[in-house]
Amino acid sequence: MLIKPIQRLEGTVTIPGDKSVSHRAAIFNAIADGESTITNFLVSQDCLSTLECLRGMGVTIERSGETVSIAGRGLHGLLAPSAPLDCGNSGTTARTLSGVLAAQRFESMLVGDGSLSRRPMRRIITPLTEMGAAVDSADGCLPLRFRPAERLTGISYHAQVASAQVKTCILLAGLYAEGATSVTEPIVTRDHTERMFEWLGADISSADTPEGRKVMIRGGKAMTARDINVPGDISSAAFLLVAAGCLAGSHTILKNVGLNPTRRSLLDFLIECGIDLRITDEASRSNEPAGDIEVVGGLRPRGETVKIDKHRIAGVIDELPILAILGSRLRGGLEVRDAAELRVKESDRIAAVVSNLRAIGGKIDEFEDGFRVYPSRLTGGNATTFGDHRIAMAFAVAGLLSDNGVEIDDPACAEVSFPNFFGVLERAAS
Ligand code: S3P
Repeated sequence: MLIKPIQRLEGTVTIPGDKSVSHRAAIFNAIADGESTITNFLVSQDCLSTLECLRGMGVTIERSGETVSIAGRGLHGLLAPSAPLDCGNSGTTARTLSGVLAAQRFESMLVGDGSLSRRPMRRIITPLTEMGAAVDSADGCLPLRFRPAERLTGISYHAQVASAQVKTCILLAGLYAEGATSVTEPIVTRDHTERMFEWLGADISSADTPEGRKVMIRGGKAMTARDINVPGDISSAAFLLVAAGCLAGSHTILKNVGLNPTRRSLLDFLIECGIDLRITDEASRSNEPAGDIEVVGGLRPRGETVKIDKHRIAGVIDELPILAILGSRLRGGLEVRDAAELRVKESDRIAAVVSNLRAIGGKIDEFEDGFRVYPSRLTGGNATTFGDHRIAMAFAVAGLLSDNGVEIDDPACAEVSFPNFFGVLERAAS
């Protein structure tokens, strides 16, 4: 697909539901007592994988468009699956569901596609094993086999990698474990799990300690199913925010975007780059803040290099590919460090950003843990997605900002997190 340059983005856009919140809403309500309805659920391949895995364990789920009804089976009501549970491309499905499977009295197996089967799982196998779970894997990757668990015991876990998926996995296992389970994070990651556990009545608390934010859950307490309205995904909004922000003359309103404090640092960053953003109608829904974002295009010419390091990485981890595109438009460029995690996402996102940006005329240095983008003119050319949705969308935006357009080899992979992304772009572009 050739993405041609445009003048500006205009109009009102509704952003599809948040991926992280959609996965959690389905999984948590499936193991809660009672029925619930999730609205604005993200109907993307990743979240559909989660629904299929839950169905595979006897959960009755009905879906009509973005509305999903779940008949919760309670903490101990899941049934043994008759086939391996297929997570497709979804790391969140694999890592979070593992916390539930590790605690079941039945055997189960998690599988995934080629990309997911290369992603590291030891980060969950190690703490789950410490809790008493029996998890087998050949090489620390999928497929994972969970043997029936006798009994899990709570642990105090100090996070080695900043990962909300790992945190969620451990806290889910902690729901089933004897005693208290805690996860201490030196770098705070997205807190959707904590908020939703609270919403469904789990015994969860968090406190700041000298070692970092400590989240603690007490096991054994059932959760009560509850309706959840999923806010729009700020990581999906990021593509439109950067496109509109870079194109002077743009004026766009993105409706109902999630504004969780652990996810919204992207907005501060864009404001720092001179993009005129306004938030209106901010309100809390289902324990998650959301609101409309109005963006008026135009970058402030900043001389100094914008740096994103250790303390800011977790807050914008999924936005780094699109921020690399923005970096090429900043007078001082952009430097990203302490982001080695990007190498084990749906693709090696550092390598993908570097090779693609160079292929379309950008100037960029590669580091083991990041990259430095120099101000450069994106003339256009071909971009390879490596089957990675965020690479596809980042380089589609690069096409909008380029001189001659960017051709994307596998646009369909954007469906993993942003259904109809290209249709939305086309409608807003002029
Ligand atoms: C997610 C956490 C992040 C993020 C992913 C979704 C989540 O992954 O990149 O898209 O829903 O918890 P890590 O936990 O691996 O950092």
